[in-house]
Amino acid sequence: MAKILLGLTGSVAVYKSLNVIRLLERRGHEVKVILTSSASKFITPLMAKSLMKGELFTDEDFWTSGKSLHIELAKWADEIAIVPCTSNTLSKIRYSIADNLLTATLQAYKGPILVAPAMHEEMWLNPEVQDVVQHLREFRGVFFSGPARGILASGETGCGRLQSEEFIAEDIEAVLRGLPLKNVTVMVTYGRTEEPIDPVRVITNRSSGLMGYYLSKAVMEYGGNLIQVVGETSIIPYGRGEIVKVRTAREMFDVVSDQLDKVKVLIMAAAVSDFEPQEKYEAKLKKGKDLMISFKPTVDILHELSGSKRGGQLFVGFALETENLERNAREKLENKKLDLIVGNFATAMGSERSSGFLLDRDGVIEKFDELHKDQLAHKIIEKVVSLLK
Ligand SMILES: Cc1cc2nc3c(=O)[nH]c(=O)nc-3n(C[C@H](O)[C@H](O)[C@H](O)COP(=O)(O)O)c2cc1C
Repeated sequence: MAKILLGLTGSVAVYKSLNVIRLLERRGHEVKVILTSSASKFITPLMAKSLMKGELFTDEDFWTSGKSLHIELAKWADEIAIVPCTSNTLSKIRYSIADNLLTATLQAYKGPILVAPAMHEEMWLNPEVQDVVQHLREFRGVFFSGPARGILASGETGCGRLQSEEFIAEDIEAVLRGLPLKNVTVMVTYGRTEEPIDPVRVITNRSSGLMGYYLSKAVMEYGGNLIQVVGETSIIPYGRGEIVKVRTAREMFDVVSDQLDKVKVLIMAAAVSDFEPQEKYEAKLKKGKDLMISFKPTVDILHELSGSKRGGQLFVGFALETENLERNAREKLENKKLDLIVGNFATAMGSERSSGFLLDRDGVIEKFDELHKDQLAHKIIEKVVSLLK
């Protein structure tokens, strides 16, 4: 686990940083905090100190500790994250001003930096501030988590709100991993499709969409760009990246094939219905009589797309079976030109955990047993990263 130095600066959003500290500590990281003088006008050092396990430093410590605290902290940290980051501190980093403990530490520090800006929209959109942002992003490799759009401290709606604490914690970890999916666009499909029988009835399956939710989250935790194509689910889709909602297998196929050009990795975790009714009834079917419905196969999305797969693109599929899982998975991998297939047993459907295996295009198989889907998603994304190399 990592050593994370959090810089808290003088934004009204600074109270939310206390939650970020907790999330990071809960994930097993060691956290130390520097509070700027302006930040300690919003929250007291005592309050922050009481809610965390690690050490907290202020500008008073900078001047009274009798040692080069800024050098010690710069050497200690694996990552420095500034949450929230004011426009003032952003500009100071850009121009290498070192007039307090936080900025002096940053000047002596060589590792990765994340900033989570929070300010009024007018301040964020100020051309001078945007200049600073662009410079820090492009020439200094600083990672920006947010800002988000939403209701600001002033009560107005705009861009400049502090990114959600969960997402900041995810981004801090993505930066720690070295952003292995930086500039890689990953499309994840998940949820189940529904094929209408009549205006009120459908044929579908019991997929929860959890696997795709965790995969989407993992894509962000590895620094990727995310597109989610989501069918029906019993969960709220993961709230980052682009989200396109679809209902039927045909709609899913249309969306995926339309956007395939901008995608480097396609992960088809959706439980696409294999059948659709031959005939769709316009009016609701009446009860009381026997009913025979005949079905035809739906579009085989991965099979259709395998023909237009570009060189360098990577396709990941899922196989869910009640029998002959490994044989079926091998056939699917081959027939659909997949780079990786996740074989899982039907017990995974609707469950938080899954058992099965990953099988890659070189025939390497890696089994997993009753693994939480969050951990399985990480395993899959790590495999994707290694296959992209
Ligand atoms: C009530 C209040 C709220 C503020 N909120 C913000 C803010 O959200 N973002 C920001 O960039 N500056 C904000 N400021 C201005 C900063 O506190 C000010 O620029 C300060 O010098 C920042 O110091 P620091 O970057 O060393 O923490 C706010 C000031 C006040 C009085």
